[in-house]
Amino acid sequence: MTPQDLPAERPVDRQPLLHIDILSVLPELLASPLSHSIMKRAQDKGLLTVGVHHLRQWAVNEYGQVDDYQYGGGAGMVMMCEPLARAIDSLQEQAAYDEIIYLTPDGSTLNQKTANSLSLKGRLLLICGHYKGIDQRIRDHYVTREISIGDYVLSGGELAAAVLVDAIGRLLPGVLNDETSALTDSFQDDLLAPPVYTRPVDFRGWKVPDILLSGDPKKVDEWRYEQALQRTAERRPDLMKE
Ligand code: ADE
Repeated sequence: MTPQDLPAERPVDRQPLLHIDILSVLPELLASPLSHSIMKRAQDKGLLTVGVHHLRQWAVNEYGQVDDYQYGGGAGMVMMCEPLARAIDSLQEQAAYDEIIYLTPDGSTLNQKTANSLSLKGRLLLICGHYKGIDQRIRDHYVTREISIGDYVLSGGELAAAVLVDAIGRLLPGVLNDETSALTDSFQDDLLAPPVYTRPVDFRGWKVPDILLSGDPKKVDEWRYEQALQRTAERRPDLMKE
């Protein structure tokens, strides 16, 4: 084999730290967020693997039906038990999941603590809802955790699932390098991140704070901590109370 024949990326042969399966009726929506930047790096390094599965594979008929009218009447379709149950059963045959997570606006709101704890798991299944949501019996009998990404309603769970995978994936050891380390992110210590500056020192007369140019790492750290405290007190006093 000549060097030109070698693949650009070395094939990854190690066991991933985390495997995430995602069940969706619109897998196209997930393709881009999962195949760029840090999520791409996590997968290229073999630290994270993601399997996106089209729920219609488990449809109840040849028309690909996965939803139906709701009992009791009312506008909006509900995602049926059968395709979801068969999909989950079939995926579970490979290996058990640590958590089966349903993305839904009535779930508990995602925060850094949840992302941190999910990043320690080995295998997750995410279910993306659509229309009026999924039949309650799937929530009762399969789902172990329900997560919302905020108090607003999206058209479906895919963008929420992409947010969750990103928030978790970047925390896996080895995904971020020192420069992008998650330890200095907002929320990791219940504080918002301090302001940051880069070149030039003077832009239109707007100057970088002198202390950042002092070359004294201790003073810089103290200044950053003060700024983080001040910013958190102003913008998110609730974090400080917690
Ligand atoms: N599906 C629709 N809206 C959502 C939200 N805010 N969070 C999670 N999943 C959702």
